[in-house]
Amino acid sequence: MYKILRFFLFKMDAETAHHFTLLWISRLMKIPFVPALMKWLYVVEDKKLERKVFGLTFKNPVGLAAGLDKNAECIDAFAALGFGFVEIGTVTPLAQPGNDKPRLFRLIQDAAIINRMGFNNEGMLTVKANILKSQISKLKSQILIGGNIGKNKVTPNENATDDYLKCFDVLYEVVDYFVVNVSSPNTPNLRALQEKEPLKQLLFALQQQNNTKATSKPILLKIAPDLTHEQLDDIVEIVTETGLAGIVATNTTISRDGLSTDVKQVEAIGAGGLSGKPLTQKSTEIIRYLHQQSGGKFPIIAVGGIMTAADAMEKLNAGATLVQLYTGFIYEGPGLIKEINKSILARG
Ligand SMILES: Cc1cc2nc3c(=O)[nH]c(=O)nc-3n(C[C@H](O)[C@H](O)[C@H](O)COP(=O)(O)O)c2cc1C
Repeated sequence: MYKILRFFLFKMDAETAHHFTLLWISRLMKIPFVPALMKWLYVVEDKKLERKVFGLTFKNPVGLAAGLDKNAECIDAFAALGFGFVEIGTVTPLAQPGNDKPRLFRLIQDAAIINRMGFNNEGMLTVKANILKSQISKLKSQILIGGNIGKNKVTPNENATDDYLKCFDVLYEVVDYFVVNVSSPNTPNLRALQEKEPLKQLLFALQQQNNTKATSKPILLKIAPDLTHEQLDDIVEIVTETGLAGIVATNTTISRDGLSTDVKQVEAIGAGGLSGKPLTQKSTEIIRYLHQQSGGKFPIIAVGGIMTAADAMEKLNAGATLVQLYTGFIYEGPGLIKEINKSILARG
């Protein structure tokens, strides 16, 4: 069924298709029998899929990656399609339009996407209000929400910590865990915050704020796939030192290696992060390396090129505890969530 829908969606410009899908997905889910039908088609319910990770109970280990529901407008709909958790954002303190269009491109031959969205989002207050609207159904669906936070484009890196702290405070009551995003390639200089000293400062500040709350929330760090082994060793050290709950690996890559799409076409697209199939291996290697170097001390949420159930199993075998989809969901639809959950059950 999804393949027919995809045929029409892929005829549209990528960003138009994105907004069209989000709009219709939430409208359709308001029709009384549709959520039940979706559930019947896609949801796998089994106690054996439950995962207890950083103090939270995930009803299944397959989540929606950040960037698809940036403004938390469709949490209920994604719950009905079978996801165990949804990561909203990246959210910034102030609403911002993101980069100029076009900024989202499909590389169909490579089962990939290039994007340079640039944290387009409606800002932390609107996002909080949107999450509050979905709270009653969230309780019913038991879906967990991750809040992926970032800084505004106009905020210089010296003041970045303030932006992350603002988002943390505002979203604290409405999300179950946080992800600190310092790894998007589409906000100028953002990835400089992955360097040892600025990163430590940022994470210590967030943890300090976290400790002032009655109950602290799990904070994870989302990293780029373009880091060297030395940088990954630093990350392991910093995560341990700052007492973070875990790592989300990985964001999109700036590399264009191994693509089958015509070089000229790729060059014409220009800057942006590459996701999907060309990222599968690279991201799995990073997960394996982090898991080995940390001795499995903290959980890893695996994301990057999960296009099949086998890709997800490989990530879990490499040491991941949970998985997330973005590009695989665009290319394969909600059937992929079901296939992954069934494979996990079959593995036992
Ligand atoms: C269009 C698009 C927008 C994205 N926006 C964000 C974002 O705002 N924050 C973030 O942490 N990751 C963002 N990502 C990265 C994804 O969450 C994911 O880490 C990456 O795409 C690799 O997974 P995939 O190969 O399954 O797509 C975005 C990805 C895409 C394709």
